[in-house]
Amino acid sequence: MLCADYARDVTFTEPAATPLALLLLGQGSDAGSERGVDCPGELPPASDPTLVARAAAAKRELGDRVFVLGHHYQRDEVIQFADVTGDSFKLAREAAARPDAEYIVFCGVHFMAESADILTTANQQVVLPDLAAGCSMADMANYQQVVEAWDALSDAGVADVTVPVTYMNSSAAIKGFTGEHGGTVCTSSNAERALHWAFDHGEKVLFLPDEHLGRNTAVLQMGIPLDECVVFDPHKPGGGLTGQQLRDARMILWRGHCSVHGRFTAENVADVRARIPGVNILVHPECRHEVVLAADLVGSTEFIIKTLDAAEPGSSWAVGTELNLVRRLANAHPDKQIVFLEKTVCYCSTMNRIDLPHLVHSLESLARTVSGERAVNRIMVDETVAANARLALNRMLALPQAPAFAG
Ligand code: 13P
Ligand code: SF4
Repeated sequence: MLCADYARDVTFTEPAATPLALLLLGQGSDAGSERGVDCPGELPPASDPTLVARAAAAKRELGDRVFVLGHHYQRDEVIQFADVTGDSFKLAREAAARPDAEYIVFCGVHFMAESADILTTANQQVVLPDLAAGCSMADMANYQQVVEAWDALSDAGVADVTVPVTYMNSSAAIKGFTGEHGGTVCTSSNAERALHWAFDHGEKVLFLPDEHLGRNTAVLQMGIPLDECVVFDPHKPGGGLTGQQLRDARMILWRGHCSVHGRFTAENVADVRARIPGVNILVHPECRHEVVLAADLVGSTEFIIKTLDAAEPGSSWAVGTELNLVRRLANAHPDKQIVFLEKTVCYCSTMNRIDLPHLVHSLESLARTVSGERAVNRIMVDETVAANARLALNRMLALPQAPAFAG
């Protein structure tokens, strides 16, 4: 999407994090969270010089039994073993399109592996190489909070005309709630189409759990006025909103954000413009509204990749998304100047949990697993939850396809 020249200022304050929003050390468990628990078994040491050869050998031995999916934010050391790379939408489709693979190894984060489990057959097993690879954004909406939010909408008399739309970056339980209440999943590459679908089915949208993607899509792509968007804060009674505010709003945005994309600021944009004359600013729609307004182009991970692939040699770009991807793009396009939008390092810490030792551990364990036995680090979604979540995911997969090159 192209950024319109909006003059509105939107202020953003960090929402209070759900306790244990990040499980950085991979120890212990948090059953209330979307991510998994600690990783069982002995990991090979990261210093083992044979790790690449071990991963290749285990993958070769598994042959067609395994299919490896790699999200664009994964480390290079992992992405080299992916059979397909993609954004979360493409990977969900790829998972659903591989019914013959006994194992889907998902190099990404927990909510992606859950979605893959929901979309694959009962005979297939989905493996997340590190069960602690969660997502802090997904953890900002838990099932009980969403039930309470829906109660607040009912009390305000608007639940019947509200359609829930949840970003892919949410737990299976939230997707299940969404499916059960007539809503759809969306990703950053189809959020506009999902919102059109939702407004065809209701008058208001409850958008979970990323307020920025919801606001950016509603305001910049759908033309919904900013003052018809309200933010529901799950840490405040009634979301911090009056019944009248809920009745007046068209977009009810959940107060959640990505800890990576939420770091970019409008000052970063101004700094880079001052440093690099003629630079194009390209950002992901999980960035704050004021950052998107200050940028030149905004779009999903796939859009960012395609934009840079098509860019003129000699052009300059500052990119506001996860650093593994920006570095890979800079290396792939030495004829273009591609820099990171922020000066400090900005990896997604949970995406980065999937490293070569964890991948080797998963692949070698799978190679030793007899067909039908439970795989190591298997992600399994409860079938009742999965049935409702599948409704919401299938509604997304049935949305009209994106044009080949759209943000
Ligand atoms: P996409 O893969 O939809 O671009 O989302 C980015 C992201 O933050 C994934 O966690
Ligand atoms: Fe979650 Fe953001 Fe990391 Fe994506 S980049 S997994 S939204 S924290």
